[in-house]
Amino acid sequence: MRNLGFGLGLRPDHYEALLADRPRLGFVEALTENYLIPGGRPLHYLERIRARYPVVLHGVSLSIGSTAPLDARYLADLKALVDRVEPQWVSDHLCWTGVDGINLHDLMPMPYTGEAIRHLVPRIRQVQDLLGRRILLENVSSYVAYRSSDMTEWQFLAELASEADCLLLLDVNNVYVNSVNHGFDPDEFLRGIPADRVAQIHLAGHERQESFIIDTHDAPVADPVWALYQRSVRRLGAVSTMIERDANIPPLGELLDELAVAERLAGVEAAA
Ligand SMILES: [Fe+2]
Repeated sequence: MRNLGFGLGLRPDHYEALLADRPRLGFVEALTENYLIPGGRPLHYLERIRARYPVVLHGVSLSIGSTAPLDARYLADLKALVDRVEPQWVSDHLCWTGVDGINLHDLMPMPYTGEAIRHLVPRIRQVQDLLGRRILLENVSSYVAYRSSDMTEWQFLAELASEADCLLLLDVNNVYVNSVNHGFDPDEFLRGIPADRVAQIHLAGHERQESFIIDTHDAPVADPVWALYQRSVRRLGAVSTMIERDANIPPLGELLDELAVAERLAGVEAAA
């Protein structure tokens, strides 16, 4: 997948600034669910922004891991949006968000088992066939683990990506959060995932509690996550990288400064 350089999550707070200031940005990542209504104001902005920046789509509602059938209405709306926006790629999360019509409004992790992989593969293929392209699935942060898991998260990601022939969105903050919450070595995670399938990297802030970390996306990227990002670039090479901020959204300039840190760290690794 093409390296788009360094981008930002597209947030309504920044629509006007992006159009007025035209900052140098490799791409913007639009949240799929915000643009599913044809004729809406958000889609109007997205089309204007798309004329200036490469766009990728990132969803939260696919619920690829659920035991409920994939939502046909959502898939049809997603397909229509993809046809309209022609994003560079489409991603969602490797999780489930509900079952039996109940939406948990949370990204719940999968059990890391062969059974879960066998469940996921045809569902991923169904989405990929519909969209006519491979999708990216993102590793989520988690606070619980399943007793039934019989492999590590990275083994699960590697086997799933290979079996379903999908791509991965590596959220480096989520790797760090999970490494603390579940007590594993984040570098072992990095070594375990297939470098050739990682098409995008997310960076985000989190909140440190006494014994665990909450993935809040409301603060600057933390130092250990920057360090892990540097090691990710060393392992994976140059990959499209962006910062996600979903709350406490600062002025665009502040996020661009933070993004410059990512660019500098990646450049140091590339030169090493
Ligand atoms: Fe993320």
